[in-house]
Amino acid sequence: MTNYGKIILKREDKNFHAGFCIIHEELETLVNSLSLLHPIEKSYYDSLKYERRKVSYMLGRIAAKKAISEFAEVKSFSSIHIDSGIFQFPVVKIPGITQNIQVSLSHCDNFGIALAFPEQHPLGIDIEKIDTTKTEAIKSQMSPKELELIPKVNLPLQTGCTALWTIKEGLSKIFRTGLTMDFKLLEVQSLEKKDSVYISSFTNCAQYKGISWSFENYVCTMILPKNTNIDFKNFSGCLTNIFSI
Ligand SMILES: CC(C)(COP(=O)(O)OP(=O)(O)OC[C@H]1O[C@@H](n2cnc3c(N)ncnc32)[C@H](O)[C@@H]1OP(=O)(O)O)[C@@H](O)C(=O)NCCC(=O)NCCS
Repeated sequence: MTNYGKIILKREDKNFHAGFCIIHEELETLVNSLSLLHPIEKSYYDSLKYERRKVSYMLGRIAAKKAISEFAEVKSFSSIHIDSGIFQFPVVKIPGITQNIQVSLSHCDNFGIALAFPEQHPLGIDIEKIDTTKTEAIKSQMSPKELELIPKVNLPLQTGCTALWTIKEGLSKIFRTGLTMDFKLLEVQSLEKKDSVYISSFTNCAQYKGISWSFENYVCTMILPKNTNIDFKNFSGCLTNIFSI
C-alpha cells in the first residue's frame, strides 16, 4: 500500500510545500518496482546480500522518489538518483533539475516514509517500532528531564521512550550527522499533547519543533521549523491508513 500527497508549509512571509510518501510493502512486491531505480541505485541493490537491507533500501528509495514526484512533478523515477553523502545522508540528483531538492527518509520493518522539500525549508522524518525489549536501553540514553515528560502526556514508558528517540533522530537527520552527534545536544525540552499528536521542542535548538504520531506499534515524528504551520490532516490520514494495517 502506498499513500502520498503534498504538505503546505505555512510561514509568516511565504509558503513552501513538501511532498510525502508512506509505503507498506513486502519484498516480493517491491521487486516489481526495480525498474524505478536509477542504474547506479540498481547496481547498489544488486550488491546487497541481506533481505532486510534490500527491503529497507527499496522502501526508502521508492518512497523518496514518489515524494519527489509530488514535490517537483518529476515523471521518470529511474532518472532520479538518491545518492548517499559521507555521513550516509540522502543526496538527490536529477538531470535537468536545478533546484536543490532535499529528502529525509526512514524505514522500519516493511514501512518506508519520505519527505521531499526545498533546501530553503529543512524537514526531518523518523519512524520507529515500539519495542519493549529496547525500552531500558533507550531510557538509559535520556536525561532525567526528558523522562519526566513522558508521564505528563500519559504515554506508556515504552511509547514515550520511542517517541523521544524519533524526535532526536529526526533532528539529527536535519543536521546530517545522524546520532553520531552528542545525544545531550538533541535534548527534548517539552512534550505536549495537542489533539491527536504530540508537539515537542528542543533545549538547544529553539528553531525547530517535532510533531509525533503514536500508533499501536510505531511512532512517527516529523521535525520542522518552529514557526512553520502545517495542516497535517491529509498526512495524518495517510499515516493512520498505513499504520492501522
Ligand atoms: C541517521 C540514523 C540516525 C538513521 O537511523 P535508523 O533508525 O537506522 O534508520 P532510519 O530508517 O530512520 O533512517 C535511515 C535513513 O536515514 C538517512 N540517513 C542516514 N544517515 C543520515 C544522516 N547522517 N543525516 C541525515 N539522514 C541520514 C538515510 O537516507 C537512511 O536511509 P538509506 O540508508 O536507505 O538511504 C543513523 O543511521 C545514524 O546515526 N547514522 C549516523 C551516520 C553515520 O555515520 N553512519 C555510519 C553508519 S556505519
